[in-house]
Amino acid sequence: MQGELIVFSGSSHYKLAQGIASHIGLPLGRARITRFSNENIKVKIDENVRGADVFVVQTSCPPVSDNLMELLIMLDALKFASASRVTAVLPYFPYARSDKKDESRISIAARLVADLLQASGADRVLTMTLHAPQTLGFFRSPADQLMAHPILIQYFRQKDLSNAIVVATDAGSAKFAGYFAKRIGTPMAVIDKRRMDDTESAHSVALIGDVKGKDAIIYDDEIATGGSIREAARILRDFGAREVCVGVTHGVFSGNAPETLNGADLDELVVTDTIPIPEAKQESIKNLKILTTAPMFGEAINRIHAGRSLSEMME
Ligand code: R5P
Repeated sequence: MQGELIVFSGSSHYKLAQGIASHIGLPLGRARITRFSNENIKVKIDENVRGADVFVVQTSCPPVSDNLMELLIMLDALKFASASRVTAVLPYFPYARSDKKDESRISIAARLVADLLQASGADRVLTMTLHAPQTLGFFRSPADQLMAHPILIQYFRQKDLSNAIVVATDAGSAKFAGYFAKRIGTPMAVIDKRRMDDTESAHSVALIGDVKGKDAIIYDDEIATGGSIREAARILRDFGAREVCVGVTHGVFSGNAPETLNGADLDELVVTDTIPIPEAKQESIKNLKILTTAPMFGEAINRIHAGRSLSEMME
């Protein structure tokens, strides 16, 4: 058993951090984050953390680099204030998609983020649904990945799934889509998606599986521009799907995502709250449903604090 459990929030997603802390039954730790006129960030921890088991919640959302830097400074401040263990809680991992060297002379920035977190004092990391699970291997200290599956499964199980089929947007998401399909008891299909260049535009070129007359549930790890979902919906409708719903962990919704998604004719778009979605944006996306991850993160923090297994939570 570690010292006293304290949960701090960075400024990226206060609402989620508060939900996590209230699930645990604690107030958030007190810290002041200010910016000098030269844009340098100052963090002042406003309570004693000596010997404490500290968790800092900071997700990746705009301004991405500022939020990352703020987290690094918070970790450093906590470590040097003698916290006994510091865990960075990253609901959406920064630079998660930069996880491999698929071109010459590029940085694997997700590995760089892992290095920075550790250098700043993170003894461990807790995150959710990585773009590639191998990212955990960038850490030389314990790193735990929660999956949003149980939350999405619980939601979709409330529906009539007798005619449903789970659809992976590409081969990369097929493994987890298969797991999801198995848990909600449906067959699955896979889309052959290609990205032709660096413009982030995706094209669905083929479909493996029969969706004719079926209620499709598209599964993916994240929605960024919405292009993958729009393309998936297009091919599913072309092949005769009756309904098209979406279940995704991270609602990044960058650029013109709301317009792109509204043009995709989706019956329901379900995401979790790993990333804050401004109210105006929420209202601009048709048929959007947001599920909270706060109880799951709260439970995981309780378990890490008590030295209990996390894998039981994913069963
Ligand atoms: C891609 O490999 C991921 O699994 C997602 O499909 C992708 O990140 C979604 O991006 P976008 O919404 O921009 O198509």
